[in-house]
Amino acid sequence: PLPEAFKVPLPIPPVKKPLRTQAGIDYYRVVQQKASLEILPGLKTEILGYDGLLPGPTFDVRSGRTTVVEQVNHLDVPTAVHLHGGHTPAASDGWPLDLLMPNGEHHEHAGHGGMGGGDVATGSRKYTYPNTQRAATLWYHDHRMDYTAPQVYRGLFGLHLIRDAEEDALPLPGGDREIPLVLADRAFAADGSFLYPAATDGPGVEAKYMEGVIGDVMLVNGAPWPVLEVDAARYRFRILNASNARRFELALDSGPARFVQIGSDGGLLGAPVEHKTLVVAPAERFDVVVDFSAYQPGTEVTLLNKLDSGRAGQVMRFKVMRRAGDDSNVPAKLSSYAAVPEPSGLIHREWRFRRGSANGHQGWTINGKAFDPQKMQASVKLDQYEVWSFVTDVHHPVHVHLAPFQVLRRGGGKPGPYDAGWKDTVDIRPAEVVDVLVRFTAHKGKYLIHCHNLEHEDMAMMAAFETV
Ligand code: C2O
Ligand code: CU
Repeated sequence: PLPEAFKVPLPIPPVKKPLRTQAGIDYYRVVQQKASLEILPGLKTEILGYDGLLPGPTFDVRSGRTTVVEQVNHLDVPTAVHLHGGHTPAASDGWPLDLLMPNGEHHEHAGHGGMGGGDVATGSRKYTYPNTQRAATLWYHDHRMDYTAPQVYRGLFGLHLIRDAEEDALPLPGGDREIPLVLADRAFAADGSFLYPAATDGPGVEAKYMEGVIGDVMLVNGAPWPVLEVDAARYRFRILNASNARRFELALDSGPARFVQIGSDGGLLGAPVEHKTLVVAPAERFDVVVDFSAYQPGTEVTLLNKLDSGRAGQVMRFKVMRRAGDDSNVPAKLSSYAAVPEPSGLIHREWRFRRGSANGHQGWTINGKAFDPQKMQASVKLDQYEVWSFVTDVHHPVHVHLAPFQVLRRGGGKPGPYDAGWKDTVDIRPAEVVDVLVRFTAHKGKYLIHCHNLEHEDMAMMAAFETV
């Protein structure tokens, strides 16, 4: 039996505090551990969580200020932590074979750990994030080779916010009126445990789930169909789709409110963009302002997902409680963001995302190949713009590590309504081509491009490239 909707208050993940600060660097320690949480009322769900939380704690850091995060593995599985959207040196980027092994005595075999190419640590590992990028909503999550999907599903994900002076200077809603909304669908067994259809003969899922695992319970910040009491005022919502495979088309069920988009994966837009509905693919972030001031106190506003006709067609509810003062605003100019004019004569690469058989088993491929960590599919010069084309068969949310990109064209025409700003993940629809302009800077090494449908990713829809 599914819980009644709109009863549980929306939880806010706690902000992580540094252990210490030394020479301008903030040092943190996170313990990856199992926890038994009451997600569904009256039932216990065993999760794998950063600090035992789902979502993990939120990092809230300054642009240009280095954070060092010591991750400690108290689980019974290897992990790898990736900061999604981070301008991160390769050694800290969570390469899927740079495993962090648990310290305990009984643990599952590392699988590919002995295959070479991986820098394996045991017990704990330090990740260094220079945060050399503009203010943005990033997130961190597990990236273990072949097992990213089940490990993120069980709880290994959290937010990492970067702030800067340009954003601080804006009169955007803040404090209690700046709220993260981490959306994730999950399925549960009758005893409350997560129901994940893992393949029994190796990594990946049962064949009939290879399109991706969809759950029937909507979690926001880890709570099922929660409710948030709001003032009749403007709110800033940082929306992250942390689902393995589900796409959303978000809408508000009543009244005048719109989503005023102020930022994308890679930070603030140049100017706000108003949307009636918001299509959010896995791993994408939308930074939006919603103005509840026109609602009478007592009004209930439900956040819907128009792409689902069942229970998951509802996401959460806002309850407008009272009139209140509001000196926030959404200025017509948000940031110095500008579209980069496309220079001519650039290197052009095509990445084709297709279902296919590779190495004898059915899976997902890029340019006809299954992921091979030993083989670099491209060698990309730092500091030079390139045009990358993503080509699909079915829906694939395409993600590139290290650098954000700007969408140049969708289907040969203009970018779509949700493509504005610096992106690191782009929702490519069936049989579509999207061209983006990308430029990598600062860090030489091995990086990834992959589909962020996590079942597709685990079933080999990933490619390595090197920056030189
Ligand atoms: Cu959000 Cu390579 O991942
Ligand atoms: Cu895909």
